[in-house]
Amino acid sequence: MFIDTTPSLGIAARLCGVSHEYGRAPNNLVVLDEVDLEIQAGKLTLLMGPSGSGKTTLLTILGLLRRPTRGRVEVGGRDLSNCSESDWTAVRRREVGFIFQNSNLLTALTAQENVQVVLDLQGQTQHAAASGAMGLLERVGLADRADHLPSELSGGQQQRVAIARALASPGSLVLADEPTASLDSRSAKTVMELLRSLADQDGRAVVVVTHDVRLKPMADDVVRIEDGRIVSREGGL
Ligand SMILES: Nc1ncnc2c1ncn2[C@@H]1O[C@H](COP(=O)(O)OP(=O)(O)OP(=O)(O)O)[C@@H](O)[C@H]1O
Ligand SMILES: [Mg+2]
Repeated sequence: MFIDTTPSLGIAARLCGVSHEYGRAPNNLVVLDEVDLEIQAGKLTLLMGPSGSGKTTLLTILGLLRRPTRGRVEVGGRDLSNCSESDWTAVRRREVGFIFQNSNLLTALTAQENVQVVLDLQGQTQHAAASGAMGLLERVGLADRADHLPSELSGGQQQRVAIARALASPGSLVLADEPTASLDSRSAKTVMELLRSLADQDGRAVVVVTHDVRLKPMADDVVRIEDGRIVSREGGL
């Protein structure tokens, strides 16, 4: 197992002996093979590896969007192996924020409303949610675009709204699948700096799947996966 020995805020998520197969024998495809991984709070972890090596599958298992075929998944200190579907979903809603390659914003809502709905769902009053959303848009540098629809924002700006949404959720785990893939290098840097700040300022565990080696210097940990197995884990900074 790859265990980080540097001081940290604790373990936000842990996979033990996680394997995953798609399909059924004899046409089953083993995509993850006995993966052990600890994700630290307050750190930015990059997950790198060739196309088809299992990165997205691993991220969706960590983010409780998919149950593995075998193995233990712990999020927020809780072993979820024997949990019901509804517990699994409840922990996901509470603990996990996702950022996808194409930001997955709600197209009919403005930037501010996209962030506000997350605060609404937590039971905040409309006034508190609206001003909270505005504050988060300020943090990602988009206060002046609050009333724009996603279609009226650039790709980099849409990703920054997606990050503001992740900030609005209370979760300890922020997972991003190739968040900079469709961005120019300047926007990619802004997005990565914001993700870095989620780890540094907010103490969240941030896991980013990427092919972009330019991001390595911004990471605390770089985990490399090949053919469904973790082959190395090294410090990036
Ligand atoms: N729903 C599915 N059903 C069957 N096979 C799948 C499914 N999703 C992914 N796979 C296969 O599992 C393997 C790993 O896929 P995964 O999406 O995890 O790779 P990845 O490392 O994220 O690749 P990329 O860098 O191209 O996004 C691939 O061979 C893929 O074809
Ligand atoms: Mg992928």
